Amino acid sequence: MNNRWNEIIYKLWSPVYDRIFNTGKFLEARQKLFHHPPFHPQQRILFVGVGTGADLELLDHSQFWITAIDYSNDMLQKARDKFKDTKIEFIQMDAQQMSFAENSFDAVVGSLILSVVPDPERCMKEMIRVLKPQGSMIIFDKFSPPKISLIKRMIRPFVKVMGTDIGVNFENLYEQNHEAIILKEDEPLLFNGMYRKILLTKIRR
Ligand SMILES: C[S@@+](CC[C@H](N)C(=O)[O-])C[C@H]1O[C@@H](n2cnc3c(N)ncnc32)[C@H](O)[C@@H]1O
Repeated sequence: MNNRWNEIIYKLWSPVYDRIFNTGKFLEARQKLFHHPPFHPQQRILFVGVGTGADLELLDHSQFWITAIDYSNDMLQKARDKFKDTKIEFIQMDAQQMSFAENSFDAVVGSLILSVVPDPERCMKEMIRVLKPQGSMIIFDKFSPPKISLIKRMIRPFVKVMGTDIGVNFENLYEQNHEAIILKEDEPLLFNGMYRKILLTKIRR
């Protein structure tokens, strides 16, 4: 996966994305992300790889200062259309190289992005960098165990072509950043725990 390919594949996904990933079991899983959100009115929240804005539909966005980024203009346009009369700021930006200053946001939400970006380690570091100390990070994604099964190893390249990686291991990402973040919650949400809700707090700059 690289940015150019993601741009193409998410252009193709954009007209049908919500019909698959914003209904049924996916919608039920998303709803659990914001049951008890770890942020407060008037705080600044960053949605990384916001896509069509599926998550934004699930919280009272008028209470927050929301910035939402995505690499794909086609996905972003879907979100812009949904939220055109709001103060949400949509920006086309690479999640692996954000132009925000460090410690800019009270909370960062990353749904189905670490498994999509070409370099999840870099993206994770960026999400931590722009988060304020004591700020919260909500991650909703599919992660693989440290040892990938044979079947997954075989289908992984084909799934990647569709714009996502089934081989990203969260524990690796956490281990690399354990001095900066602390795990608060780790909840299986979908498909036998393949999809998880992970809540982290930033402990250092
Ligand atoms: C599976 S979708 C998830 C969208 C949304 N967060 C959701 O939960 O429905 C992945 C999104 O990541 C975006 N994306 C891919 N590479 C990116 C990058 N380097 N920087 C920012 N966004 C990226 C895609 O354009 C797409 O909108």
